[in-house]
Amino acid sequence: MAERFQTPLYVYSADQMIERLGLFQQALANRRHLVCYAVKANSALAILKVLAEHGAGFDIVSGGELARLQAAAPEAVGRVVFSGAGKTIDEIDQALEAGILAFNVESEAELGLLASRAARRKRKARFSLRVNPDVFAETHPYISTGLREHKFGIDIRQARRIYVEAARSRWLAAHGVSVHIGSQIRSAEPFGAAVARVAKLVRELEKDGIRLKTVDAGGGLGINYHLGEGESFDAQSVVGEYARAVENALTGLDVTLLLEPGRFLVAQAGVLLARVLYVKRNGKKTFVVTDAAMNDLIRPALYEAFHQIVPVAPRPGRAAPVDIVGPVCETGDFFARDRKFQPVEPGDLVAILDAGAYGMAQSSNYNTRPRPAEVLVRGAELKLIRRRETIADLFAPEIL
Ligand code: LLP
Repeated sequence: MAERFQTPLYVYSADQMIERLGLFQQALANRRHLVCYAVKANSALAILKVLAEHGAGFDIVSGGELARLQAAAPEAVGRVVFSGAGKTIDEIDQALEAGILAFNVESEAELGLLASRAARRKRKARFSLRVNPDVFAETHPYISTGLREHKFGIDIRQARRIYVEAARSRWLAAHGVSVHIGSQIRSAEPFGAAVARVAKLVRELEKDGIRLKTVDAGGGLGINYHLGEGESFDAQSVVGEYARAVENALTGLDVTLLLEPGRFLVAQAGVLLARVLYVKRNGKKTFVVTDAAMNDLIRPALYEAFHQIVPVAPRPGRAAPVDIVGPVCETGDFFARDRKFQPVEPGDLVAILDAGAYGMAQSSNYNTRPRPAEVLVRGAELKLIRRRETIADLFAPEIL
């Protein structure tokens, strides 16, 4: 693949994504549910199409992501929930027009705007309030969202009043309630705690005569980026435990459960393939310089995230500590620091693992670097799903 499509190159396994989606669907077989893949994790059109074919719904956060679904899987638009704290008028109109399943509304002001836009087109808007449950989840501070101090959601203590007020609007239909406490959360417990708080709200609303149809437990289930050699990741039991925690919290409630997993479906299905350009020594340090850089995969630079890296064709010899870095002019442009690594030579290929989520989706053209190509593997089939950008692509919007 590296020879055919050059590097850096994202390579994904469609089979693994489908398998992961199936794990959620099987674990929730006893309850009405919809797994709404969080498009932000990897928004490649071809990936959206594959997941839609296997029954996924989608969680979007922009009009752009909605347009992606309209292009890749128009039949799935009715299975879309729209999250995000800053929806614009245009985005709300676009989603009303498309007929999405529901808006996950993040403020009273947004709810007011939604009502007025729905009134203009004389079509009811289905909404869920995204409540903030004030639950702490152990993860990186940049991707933790479920505390009152965060910008996300509506204080759960205000939610009941807002639903009751919204019930008076002709153009709003209370569809459900949603919650999302953060990302890369490795334990099921905080999910259960958050959904338990939401379930309590659903029961209170029943007393007010408001019957919600859905509870959306958000995304955030984490993976193990640190698997040691010979260790394996038991995705099925991780999903099973998570599903049980969420289900238990919903016992006795006749609601459809929505989930918004992103990372869990696609992270481990993807690698970023890079070629070694140079191996250089500065004093005691050895740097392996690859043709991939922070613009292609920013997670290590942005969150000090750990990604395993493996040589594609390992050479014999003793592993020694190296920094694996890209060509971008920033000290933060690294993939690994002081990592024990087998000897490599210029021209060798390395694979940066678990790069299927928030890799390409967060890439940029920093340093005027064209973004990588993407390949999707399905069974024995291999398909280029995005060609490598050209310099002309990069210049296209510019005016001289
Ligand atoms: N739903 C909502 C409302 C979200 O904000 C997110 C992610 C998800 C679902 C999906 O979460 P997941 O299942 O993928 O954890 N760029 C960071 C992660 C940012 C997550 C933002 N929100 C990273 O690379 O770790």
